[in-house]
Amino acid sequence: MTHLLSTSCTIRPPATKIERTWGVHMTYRTSAAFGYCRCPIFKPFRVKLQRKNTVYATAAPITIGVEQLPKSGSSLNQNGNSSKPKKVMVIGGDGYCGWATALHLSNKNYEVSIVDSLVRRLFDHQLGLNSLTPISSIHNRIRRWNSVTGKVIQLYVGDICDFEFLSEIFRSFEPDAVVHFGEQRSAPYSMIDRSRAVFTQQNNVIGTLNVLFAIKEFSKECHLVKLGTMGEYGTPNIDIEEGYITVTHNGRTDTLPYPKQASSFYHLSKVHDSHNIAFTCKAWGIRATDLNQGVVYGVRTDETAMHEELCNRFDYDAVFGTALNRFCVQAAVGHPLTIYGKGGQTRGYLDIRDTVQCVELAISNPAKAGEFRVFNQFTEQFSVNDLASLVTNAGKKLGVDVQAISVPNPRVEAEEHYYNAKHTKLIELGLKPHLLSDSF
Ligand SMILES: NC(=O)c1ccc[n+]([C@@H]2O[C@H](COP(=O)([O-])OP(=O)(O)OC[C@H]3O[C@@H](n4cnc5c(N)ncnc54)[C@H](O)[C@@H]3O)[C@@H](O)[C@H]2O)c1
Repeated sequence: MTHLLSTSCTIRPPATKIERTWGVHMTYRTSAAFGYCRCPIFKPFRVKLQRKNTVYATAAPITIGVEQLPKSGSSLNQNGNSSKPKKVMVIGGDGYCGWATALHLSNKNYEVSIVDSLVRRLFDHQLGLNSLTPISSIHNRIRRWNSVTGKVIQLYVGDICDFEFLSEIFRSFEPDAVVHFGEQRSAPYSMIDRSRAVFTQQNNVIGTLNVLFAIKEFSKECHLVKLGTMGEYGTPNIDIEEGYITVTHNGRTDTLPYPKQASSFYHLSKVHDSHNIAFTCKAWGIRATDLNQGVVYGVRTDETAMHEELCNRFDYDAVFGTALNRFCVQAAVGHPLTIYGKGGQTRGYLDIRDTVQCVELAISNPAKAGEFRVFNQFTEQFSVNDLASLVTNAGKKLGVDVQAISVPNPRVEAEEHYYNAKHTKLIELGLKPHLLSDSF
């Protein structure tokens, strides 16, 4: 993908240049996103692929400074005997939701591994963006987690679009559940240009397809918990149900997948994922939960707050930052809140502390074999104008004068619309929401 070498949206990089030196350590320079390797020596031992930008891949787990310490996931049953912990593979575990979830599950005595290509960090470098909160390297994060809690998280660095890599880690880790966060997750990013649209769909759709094949081939009983998005539904003029809708048409009734109306190439990749997962549940008997997540906010969870090196990311730019994060930063620096268009755009929102709860609830109450289960994962609905009011009122309490202005909307979307999405299934499983409306 040419854009992965570019440093801004407009620069076109020169033609691909590849230099390889095969061996245990390989240097590999290419325009591809990640220097993962399909050479035969990849399999039996750790292979390090280095590029100028230091992304590298390994199919052998990296465990850091852990030999003397008890393993993560060791748990006691009611009789005080240790029981075998559930093994959970968190794909995209270096990202915003994935990092918080991996720590939460590890803290709850699941045996956790993180799989990540680190491409999200690469996007930051290439677009000149940065998290407001300083983010440690994944290696330091995992090392720190181990030193603070004594728990072990295994790390596999690589791209799930490489099926050979994915097969190796499935055989090595043998997951009981896979939580799949590992996608390009920004709608604006997917709309920048052709190459980013292609990258988003290729990365997301092929990555998920590979996960489905890996489950079929290596871990048939494994429960897939896949992060979808509420954006898959769009903004229909009727209530949004949780995944399915019962329709009566010409006197006949059926329960069908709820219609999808994606509004970006990113959202379309999620729709395609959902279709592929639903199909493989039917065709191969895979058990899956699609979590149609709303917009997530917040930085702290119980675990990320344990040490500054465990801190999560906070994005506030126009590509990866959400409206709420942008408004908070604008208010803090005395810039007017920039409302896109009329500001009636309404979406579901949830606290990162509820994301980690929801994922744990999904894992501990798995879907049945062959079941494609859909949960709408959010706790409250807000329009952009509602968010601006919340931030303005919070500013008042702190003695900060916050102004808001309307700016031309860079997105093609309804700016005033009906929105009422159901979200009861996770509450029924035991979700105890942290509400934004309570915290302002
Ligand atoms: N953050 C939100 O508000 C939000 C809302 C709805 C849905 N989601 C979904 O939740 C998931 C996680 O979102 P996030 O905000 O944590 O994103 P993120 O970009 O912070 O994290 C995604 C992680 O996946 C990794 N990754 C991407 N492609 C990969 C690949 N091919 N192989 C291995 N690793 C790969 C990235 O390096 C990154 O660390 C995404 O699927 C996203 O669509 C997020």
